[in-house]
Amino acid sequence: MAIPTSRSKEKAEITIDPQKCIGCGDCVAVCKDFNLAVINNKVQIVTQNSVFGCVGCGHCMAICPTGAIEINGRTLSKTDLFNLPPKNLSANYEQLLALYQRRRSIREFTDKIVEPETIEKILLAARTAPMGLPPSDVNVLVIDSKEKNRMFAADYCGYLAKMRWMVSTWFLALMRPFWGKNNDEMFKNFVRPLFNVYVDEMARGNNWITYDAPLALYFYGSPFTDPADPIVAATAAMYAGESLGLGTCMLGAIHPMIQNGKNAKKFREKHGIKFASREGLFVIFGYPAVDYKKGILRSFASETKINFN
Ligand SMILES: Cc1cc2nc3c(=O)[nH]c(=O)nc-3n(C[C@H](O)[C@H](O)[C@H](O)COP(=O)(O)O)c2cc1C
Ligand code: SF4
Ligand code: SF4
Repeated sequence: MAIPTSRSKEKAEITIDPQKCIGCGDCVAVCKDFNLAVINNKVQIVTQNSVFGCVGCGHCMAICPTGAIEINGRTLSKTDLFNLPPKNLSANYEQLLALYQRRRSIREFTDKIVEPETIEKILLAARTAPMGLPPSDVNVLVIDSKEKNRMFAADYCGYLAKMRWMVSTWFLALMRPFWGKNNDEMFKNFVRPLFNVYVDEMARGNNWITYDAPLALYFYGSPFTDPADPIVAATAAMYAGESLGLGTCMLGAIHPMIQNGKNAKKFREKHGIKFASREGLFVIFGYPAVDYKKGILRSFASETKINFN
């Protein structure tokens, strides 16, 4: 019994060194699979309360003050532990808020490439994102030049052109009783014009899909992935890019279109996309060619306090 992912279907192994254990119980407190107990001042593995078997989250290893507990499996080992950066290096609220407030979706880029070291820095930061139960089942496709982005977008338009029947009047009329009024409105007023503008503009030589950005990262899952995971990782990557002086923009209009059917499978295979998945998101990056002078206040659709009265 272990949680299946595309990378591992086994539980991890727990090893304890009783010589090093001081019985502090910190690992017991953080293990939410309930694999551990302090008995006679030493930690021991207890299997009767375990929910899934050790999930390999590594929290016990990371909190242990003496290095007495080691986890191996589900892609994790002791070599994955690293020394924490000092607390005073963490961004404070003002710094973080400034980063958030200065961000705009950028679709105009200079010709400067995004350097391989910068791409690695973005990925290093994005890998820290909370991505469901380990090991993360998020995959990343790296499209690392303006030219590759244009070729990818052109291929995508060729693919869309073949699928235009999906936004035809007869197909939408056929589907309306099945998928309802809201979907019908969404297709007529958003998806159809988007389809048309993407394909028609590309035919005129304008890439309105990935905007010829020098870098695009596509975060997607597997049949096992929690749909939120790729989105959480994409958001972390976006802010990492911002912190490195890049302009960024999330692109939602590719992923949903390349999930279903034979043509979608062919498109994914051609571009090295390993799985179809429920959620996924593209983020483009590049040095901005525009400079905004003001921020724009945004709001949530609602913020409601729960009320038990
Ligand atoms: C999930 C998601 C998908 C998006 N998809 C696209 C897209 O396909 N093309 C695009 O130009 N912008 C896209 N955007 C950017 C939004 O249009 C943008 O966030 C919005 O206009 C607000 O502007 P701001 O990000 O500067 O606040 C997307 C944003 C999100 C969060
Ligand atoms: S790795 Fe996570 S699940 Fe496994 S024993 Fe440690 S804290 Fe518990
Ligand atoms: S955190 Fe380390 S020292 Fe403390 S009980 Fe667990 S294994 Fe022992």
